[in-house]
Amino acid sequence: MPLLPTHRPRRNRKSQVIRDMVQETRLTTHDFIYPLFITEGQNQQIEIKSMPGIHRFSADRVMDEIGRCVELGIKSFAPFPQVNEVLKDRLARESANMEGLYLKTVADIKRQFPEVVLMTDVAMDPYSSDGHDGIVDPDSGEILNDASLEVLGQMALAQARAGADIIGPSDMMDGRVAWIREVLDRNGFAGVSIMSYTAKYASAFYGPFRDALDSAPKKGDKKTYQMNPANRREALIELALDEQEGADMVMIKPALSYLDVIREVRNNTQLPVTAYNVSGEYAMVKAAAQQGWLDGEKTMMEVLTSIKRAGADAILTYFAKEAAEVLRRG
Ligand code: PBG
Repeated sequence: MPLLPTHRPRRNRKSQVIRDMVQETRLTTHDFIYPLFITEGQNQQIEIKSMPGIHRFSADRVMDEIGRCVELGIKSFAPFPQVNEVLKDRLARESANMEGLYLKTVADIKRQFPEVVLMTDVAMDPYSSDGHDGIVDPDSGEILNDASLEVLGQMALAQARAGADIIGPSDMMDGRVAWIREVLDRNGFAGVSIMSYTAKYASAFYGPFRDALDSAPKKGDKKTYQMNPANRREALIELALDEQEGADMVMIKPALSYLDVIREVRNNTQLPVTAYNVSGEYAMVKAAAQQGWLDGEKTMMEVLTSIKRAGADAILTYFAKEAAEVLRRG
């Protein structure tokens, strides 16, 4: 006689009610931070080809989008600017212009929606004529770490003045968290948080984002500052530094190919951990769904659940609005 199983894990899966009872991970709209692309002009809402359902909004139209999101329970946003080519220069000067598109829009959003949390992006690329996150040495082509800190600090300070709740340095220069913390503190912004892009990898998954903002590097790649996708231990070195330097929250980016890194960081810090479910990860799901090759909605919810299960407390995701609609339906 063959032995019958003595353990039957299937008992905990036998009905929807029991499955719900033992479910370990649950998504809520509180988990989501919604990225927003801001562009010049009025009455503009332009869909990004490689990101179906995601648009660049002019400042007036982005208010409607935020209104819709707030109604769905999304309360945190990460705006990014598409900067006019003529305003770009090698020092990204436009990034500290209080009258420029980005900072004016940030201030407007905070006026119209004082309750929402805005996480602003600190990196030179959208404003840089070189398309890099730091200053490029014109002779050697090298990315100049310490000279860039000056620019990043001024950018962060201007964002705090515009009303940012959280500063999100995505540039990966060494020492920028400590630098920005000090600049903020010395200028009366001790209450402004820093969510550090702790482990940001030199990833092929950023392609659609760079299309959306015209922010691709003009020359070379970002491998001297963004991390090698092959490395996990290195994320813990970055984590230790960000903690010492005063980060309030840490982030892993991208998310889906880096679930092991999210878990590793989760197990090695008491700080909140976030993950950026990036543009290429969104585009992959959307493209397959459009072909009828995947169920887009189910795949989206599985992707987001897996990022949370890996250890993320919050997720920056282009799916935020759609997932909030699914959660509302129950
Ligand atoms: C740049 C920045 C990038 C993203 C967010 N901030 C792209 C890059 O590093 O080239 C990518 C986000 C995404 O792909 O969704 N500082």
